[in-house]
Amino acid sequence: MNIGGVLLKSDLLFAPIAGFSDAGFRHLCAHYGAGLTCTELVSAKGLVYGGRGSEDLLFTTAETTPCAAQIFGGDPEFMFKAAADERLKQFDIIDINMGCPVKKVFNNGEGSALMQYPDLVTELVQAVREGSGKPVTVKMRAGIKQGYPLAVECAVAAEKGGAAAVTVHPRYREQFYSGEADHSITRAVKAAVHIPVIANGDIVDKQSLDRVREESGADAFMIGRGALGRPYIFAELEGVPFEFDAREAIAKHVDILKRYNPDRVVANLMKMHLCHYAKGKDFAKAVRVAVAQAKCTAEILEIADRFFK
Ligand SMILES: Cc1cc2nc3c(=O)[nH]c(=O)nc-3n(C[C@H](O)[C@H](O)[C@H](O)COP(=O)(O)O)c2cc1C
Repeated sequence: MNIGGVLLKSDLLFAPIAGFSDAGFRHLCAHYGAGLTCTELVSAKGLVYGGRGSEDLLFTTAETTPCAAQIFGGDPEFMFKAAADERLKQFDIIDINMGCPVKKVFNNGEGSALMQYPDLVTELVQAVREGSGKPVTVKMRAGIKQGYPLAVECAVAAEKGGAAAVTVHPRYREQFYSGEADHSITRAVKAAVHIPVIANGDIVDKQSLDRVREESGADAFMIGRGALGRPYIFAELEGVPFEFDAREAIAKHVDILKRYNPDRVVANLMKMHLCHYAKGKDFAKAVRVAVAQAKCTAEILEIADRFFK
């Protein structure tokens, strides 16, 4: 699998998930064989105006797996400037977010709102390509309102701008994350463009992967929520033998996050990850209660030792 000259060793990719796709968790997904990881969405305006938050979101470790930086914005000039930012140089691919359903983003004409304007989609891809000099991908939804798919038009417009691949999460903006992803829309996109198409949505195990593969005919598959608490899902689905020790994973994750965050921030970031590792276990509730009170990483590591023996 090849995205604009960037070689991926697996067609199973880790999705951007705000609050979870930090450098530590991306490292774990890469370790277990994800073909590509991606940062969470980073504001182009934030980058241009030098927001410190953007810096943290863009921290990354040297990986054997390529990593994309995802930026969002609706103004080609800002997107050009953001794409040219030094802090993006360490990434292999720049992804443009055209799927975010959140009101604040949508009402600003960004995220999924962009799907309504194919000419602007083309312009944004061109701007980000010129600014970054890197392969540019676009991650989109089915459309905005249910029953009015825009993905084919949007993907064609992205390809026209020179996009190296598109990812389709075929839910409508008004669905947020409810209902089921409709991968017949991904299939329609695949039929309409000549660049690789990545299917995303509801892949959580072998059965759902096979179903999405069959329904979409896509070239690669992106896993989001299915990887939370299970960074090893990539090895599992590839049928590659692996060992997973939650305590070791948590310790590594904390170690990476501490390279660029104060201890208390790391403790807060780790809380949801611990809850995901505990999900479905009989001690899940006890872990939720314990992490709610944790104030430092020493406490997080102690909780990990206590429960994940
Ligand atoms: C909490 C949360 C945060 C997300 N953040 C982002 C994001 O920053 N950028 C993005 O393109 N998609 C984001 N998504 C969407 C996911 O990347 C993915 O498209 C969606 O969850 C469907 O895939 P899944 O069923 O494998 O989770 C987010 C989803 C969730 C649930």
